[in-house]
Amino acid sequence: MSKHICTRWAFDLGSWKPTLPQLSQAVASIQPEERVRLMKFHFIDDFLSSLIGRLLMRKYVSTCSGLPHHQVKFARDVRGKPYWVREDYAGPPLSFNVSHQGSLVLLAGITGDSSDSDFGLGTDVMKIEYSGGKSLAEFFRLMKSKFSAQEWSYIARPLLDEREQVKAFMRHWCLKEAYVKELGVGITVDLEKISFSVDTTHSLEAEVSPLVGTSLRCHDKPMDNWRFEEHLLQEEYCAAIAFRNCLPQDHGRFKVLQVEELLVKSPESELEEVLSYCQKALLKPYKRT
Ligand code: COA
Ligand code: MG
Repeated sequence: MSKHICTRWAFDLGSWKPTLPQLSQAVASIQPEERVRLMKFHFIDDFLSSLIGRLLMRKYVSTCSGLPHHQVKFARDVRGKPYWVREDYAGPPLSFNVSHQGSLVLLAGITGDSSDSDFGLGTDVMKIEYSGGKSLAEFFRLMKSKFSAQEWSYIARPLLDEREQVKAFMRHWCLKEAYVKELGVGITVDLEKISFSVDTTHSLEAEVSPLVGTSLRCHDKPMDNWRFEEHLLQEEYCAAIAFRNCLPQDHGRFKVLQVEELLVKSPESELEEVLSYCQKALLKPYKRT
């Protein structure tokens, strides 16, 4: 497998309360159909998570391709997976995926060489907490069928305290999601037939993040063309990147970007239509305090 340049960007929504000028710059650079979609969110947190995801994608493609920010166009496939509409751009192929949860938004991206475009990645992030209404035992009882026997023997090891069990659960969940997100198929696959063996020589702690010793079997067949990274972010989030037919050149960490790095000035941000859209969005309630 050839080595590819991988980008890992993170944005912390906890660090940003948008002002009207910032929000209008952000909104001006996303496509009309995305504006319509975003406005449907009840909470501004969800609106902003998804909006930042769009800005990360735009920055990534614009950086890799050299195309101006506003010339990058995205579409979604039938299952909702965003892709870059390359039109007649002849540069190297690339793949990217966004994930957001809690206050974090992540983008992982990878570029290849022009000779082979059959590769890609998926990513997922989860907060390491269980906040459901049921007891953890009840939740685990319901979720067990989504994991292979081998995975479950790791997740629900009786020696682990609850926090460690939740962490093991979320790590596996992220790996599965990153895998299905690369495929773009959503959770339509038999999740218990996708069995991950995580690196058991280390626990996932900041010093060793990312762990790269994970392997995958599907329907008992080793999936040698896949590689995985498991990241720990801000101590309380785990994230995974699933690489298909490609290997990142290095196993770097996620770089935290500031909002200024995502905003690009455009005359469109001054438009009455954009400003009134943003004023309406800013009236949405926050989940967090
Ligand atoms: N495959 C890969 N990535 C996808 C995707 C897909 N099918 N659909 C959307 N994405 C991207 C988008 O950038 C999306 O951001 P957005 O919601 O702001 O547009 C982002 O991944 C969402 O990822 P994440 O934040 O990790 O959310 P999630 O873990 O809740 O969702 C899905 C990931 C969409 C793959 C997952 O929810 C899922 O499988 N849902 C089932 C829905 C489904 O399969 N629908 C198909 C209908 S035909
Ligand atoms: Mg997710």
